[in-house]
Amino acid sequence: MSRPTFQIDDTDGPKFTRAWVLHPDIKNNNDRRLAEPALAEAIALAEALPQLEVEGADIVPLRTVSAGMLFGSGKIEELKRKFEDAEVELVLVDGSVTPVQQRNLEKAWGVKLLDRTGLILEIFSDRAATREGVLQVEMAALNYQRTRLVRAWTHLERQRGGLGFVGGPGETQIESDRRAIDEQLVRLRRQLDKVVKTRALHRAARAKVPYPIVALVGYTNAGKSTLFNRLTGADVMAKDMLFATLDPTMRSLVLPDGPEIILSDTVGFISDLPTELVAAFRATLEEVLAADIICHVRDISHAETEEQAQNVRDILTSLGVPKETRSFEVWNKVDLLAPDRADAVRARAERDPNVLAISAVTGEGLEQLQSVVAEALQGVVRETDLELGFDQGKERAWLFAQEVVLHEEQTDTGFVLTVRWSAQQEAQFQRL
Ligand code: GTP
Repeated sequence: MSRPTFQIDDTDGPKFTRAWVLHPDIKNNNDRRLAEPALAEAIALAEALPQLEVEGADIVPLRTVSAGMLFGSGKIEELKRKFEDAEVELVLVDGSVTPVQQRNLEKAWGVKLLDRTGLILEIFSDRAATREGVLQVEMAALNYQRTRLVRAWTHLERQRGGLGFVGGPGETQIESDRRAIDEQLVRLRRQLDKVVKTRALHRAARAKVPYPIVALVGYTNAGKSTLFNRLTGADVMAKDMLFATLDPTMRSLVLPDGPEIILSDTVGFISDLPTELVAAFRATLEEVLAADIICHVRDISHAETEEQAQNVRDILTSLGVPKETRSFEVWNKVDLLAPDRADAVRARAERDPNVLAISAVTGEGLEQLQSVVAEALQGVVRETDLELGFDQGKERAWLFAQEVVLHEEQTDTGFVLTVRWSAQQEAQFQRL
């Protein structure tokens, strides 16, 4: 597999790359985020890459962006000294950096530089586990490189006076690079179509499994994997590591006094997801569209929990999650709140039937979560095919008495029945 060319380490051995994180806090930017939590998130993102060692981080206040260098010359000098002292090899800029700025800063500081898109691409490519995930990330990386080629090229043209009809050697090179990238993109797209088709088949097969699907979604680091492990006893990688889960993981789980369900853990959401990455991200979230119930897990102790939640809601809407899908907000990490705030959160959850206050670490609220989900599943009906032998007359009679049979066909060995039933009815049937 071809990895993105801006890869930061050749992973020959356990050599770490010494990195520094910068968050440009641009005053005239309308979508400006709170600088402190934004920097903390950027550091956590960097730490998601095992081969990086973050030596330090800074918020860099900027009144305006310098087109050529991003930062002002004084700041560049000051940072240069810092980087030299700490022997920094890689600078991560939490924002977008144009190819020109990148070249200039790399030269001024004698380091490699990645912007936010580049960093998230690295993480995605590090984490992608399924064939589809890998292909989507490769495509995203190529698209990213392609736009950078285009932008570099536009810049050169402007320098020449913007006439556009003079073909220089640089341009020829860029054109052929672009063609090569385009050809590779077409190849990847073809492979991806195949993978998506096979996956659709798998999904159809799984839809026949008469278990409802409950999907855990949420902002990165909200605690989805921890909750998933706690509920299923599974050992999904749960670390203080963003994007520990890029591809959905599914496990079946029998709810206490309730039906068997499939619990699905999904990739974490993140704000300002670079457009190049949206498709890769969506591919990992397909399962959410098939879910009967969505549990939106939130880190209620996070300073930006509201913004994160809104971000998740917006993405779910844009993914086309059906309006009628039952969903809950699971407010996690109540154990990290100050006592009075924790009480307020618990009281709020008690008033609102769509909100649950839990701690995936201490186990608080998990029983209630499971019973609320089991109860909600009673309202969910699914269609499935059942095969019954001639000796299962009692089961067959029960199904007809429940009025869940849509269609029946006799075979050599018994009957195939298409039924439409609730998870509760299904659980009762299993117990017959
Ligand atoms: P992504 O894979 O990035 O989407 O993250 P995730 O939502 O799966 O989060 P994960 O379960 O990996 O948890 C992130 C961090 O939060 C880990 O360090 C967990 O130990 C911690 N954590 C999760 N739930 C709780 C909780 O209820 N209380 C406390 N104190 N920490 C928690």
